[in-house]
Formats: sequence, structure tokens, C-alpha cells
Amino acid sequence: MEIKVYGNPTLRLKAQLVEVNSETVKLAEEMVGMMYTSNGVGLAAPQVGVSARIIVLDPQLKTGPLILFNPEIYWADNDIEACEEGCLSFPGMTLEIDRPSSIRYCYLDKEGKRRERDASGYEARIVQHELDHLEGVLIVDHVSQAKRLLLKRKLSEIKKTGKEQE
Ligand code: NI
Repeated sequence: MEIKVYGNPTLRLKAQLVEVNSETVKLAEEMVGMMYTSNGVGLAAPQVGVSARIIVLDPQLKTGPLILFNPEIYWADNDIEACEEGCLSFPGMTLEIDRPSSIRYCYLDKEGKRRERDASGYEARIVQHELDHLEGVLIVDHVSQAKRLLLKRKLSEIKKTGKEQE
């Protein structure tokens, strides 16, 4: 398992719904390991080259990491917060991104049971970032065209690395 970076086509696909079974649970658990190895706080399956609706995150809750199958945000606050975000698929880059400060989301857990959570702060931020990955949306899509032009050189460097990894 390796992290795919900007330029890899899987990062741009809309990911497929999954069944919760021994195979997908094993994949999610491997993703948790990969997230920690890479010093990340969240990881989506497309980032390891699998176009599946699986997200893992560690918003530093007492309960440990969260594994979400087929997650969906069904409520978001009107209150918008700006925050610097990084992404394992954009090594060495952070961007300030506006997102709703609180959300309510649902997902299937490792037993295939539907769960709901209210999240704010770090958890809300990470879930929204990772859910973007399931839609093929990346942090650079949130910034203005002008700012993206300024980032062009950095992006082409990352993209080159991505192509080599395919
Ligand atoms: Ni990311």
C-alpha cells in the first residue's frame, strides 16, 4: 500500500459504495496503519488507489481512530470557518480552506451497523476533507483560480512524483 499523490487518476474518480465485509474491514485497518505511518490525521481509500467509499481518521478522540464505510454528511452548519489544511496527496503543501464549522454525518461501522455522529472542530474538518476525496474533489479545487496559478510550480512537482508512482 502506498499513498497516491496529485496526478494519479484514481484521486479524481467518484468512489464506489462498499459492502462491509472481511475484505473491506481489512483494507480499512491497513489504511489506519498507513495513516499513522504517514503522520496523517485522515485517509480516504482513493488515496491508496482504491476507488471505494472508505475513510479512516483520527481526530484525537479518546475512543481512538474512526473507520467509516459509505459516510454521508446530511447536515452542515451555516457557520463557516477558515482553516489551514494539508493532504497526504499534496506533500509539503497547506491551503486555507473555508468549511462549515459543524456537521452531522452517518456511516456504517465495522459491523455494518448504521451510526450517526455530530462533529465540530477537528473532526468536522477532517470528515469533510476526506469526504471530498470520495467525490474526486481535492484541496486545490477549493482555492481561487488566481491562487492556483501561483501554486502551479509546486503542483507540477507533485504531479511528476504521482506519475512516477502509477
Ligand atoms: Ni487529503
